[in-house]
Amino acid sequence: MKSSRTCRVGVIGYGAIGVPVVAEIAAGRVPGAALEGIISRSPLSGAPAKRMDLTEALERCDLLVECAGQEALVEYGEAILLAGVDLLVTSIGALADGEFSKQLAAAGPGRLFLTAGAVGGLDLLSSGARVEGYDRVTITTTKLPESLIQPWMNEALIEEIHSARGPLDIYEGPAAEAAQLFPKSMNAGAAVAIAVNDWDVVTVRVRADPAAKLTSHVIEASGTLGEYRFEIRNKPSEDNPRTSGVVPFAVLRSLESVIGAQGGLI
Ligand SMILES: NC(=O)c1ccc[n+]([C@@H]2O[C@H](COP(=O)([O-])OP(=O)(O)OC[C@H]3O[C@@H](n4cnc5c(N)ncnc54)[C@H](O)[C@@H]3O)[C@@H](O)[C@H]2O)c1
Repeated sequence: MKSSRTCRVGVIGYGAIGVPVVAEIAAGRVPGAALEGIISRSPLSGAPAKRMDLTEALERCDLLVECAGQEALVEYGEAILLAGVDLLVTSIGALADGEFSKQLAAAGPGRLFLTAGAVGGLDLLSSGARVEGYDRVTITTTKLPESLIQPWMNEALIEEIHSARGPLDIYEGPAAEAAQLFPKSMNAGAAVAIAVNDWDVVTVRVRADPAAKLTSHVIEASGTLGEYRFEIRNKPSEDNPRTSGVVPFAVLRSLESVIGAQGGLI
């Protein structure tokens, strides 16, 4: 089925992800999408669309793209879906909170879409999860030390991370906990957990490495249908080293799939 109607799109967040997403939609490089406006706490200097508040966005948009963070998803997510507006999410780590996740799943008629963001291989992992699931899944994420510092860390740990001369493992634990402890950095672990449809089977390792010019994610899984190992090495965004530069383009690809404007690889 081919939809010929233009999809009116709003973007939440105007930072490292939001700016290029807005620019590409405004430039007409997402067939079938028209940019309606931006919800953001930051200044919109030079933006090719106007600021809107949530009420305006719900009146004017068919779909909102969240590029703002877990807190923003918690703030706006349910209201968007209840208003019958579709929502494409980047901050999928927020779904580690089981209650919130259930709340969004129950809130329609808007549809909830999640972008794979910085990682790949999720299509295959999700295909395999249809049969008995996996007995072991790990994701090891390596980033520059300063991008992993969190408000809950004590001074001794922060000092240890800052003074690391080589790779330093700073966390190992379940994917849900990792997404909550590293909310701006561990959406990748959440994406893997959602793909394998099992938060409990996924172990996340977070590694600080002063030599990590590229952010790496090594995903390993073994299950009934096979064994998989994916290694992703992304350049960090120049605007926000916690975010990989590819993420806005993953969002745009997801947007095209949601709108259904493009054929090709899915
Ligand atoms: N899925 C993935 O692979 C992946 C990868 C990187 C980042 N992310 C998620 O994307 C989020 C944004 O990343 P970024 O690098 O663009 O961050 P950023 O800090 O560069 O930009 C965030 C933008 O959102 C706005 N914002 C924050 N809270 C808001 C709110 N409540 N209401 C309105 N606007 C708000 C800020 O003003 C800013 O414009 C991250 O916090 C993270 O949760 C996901």
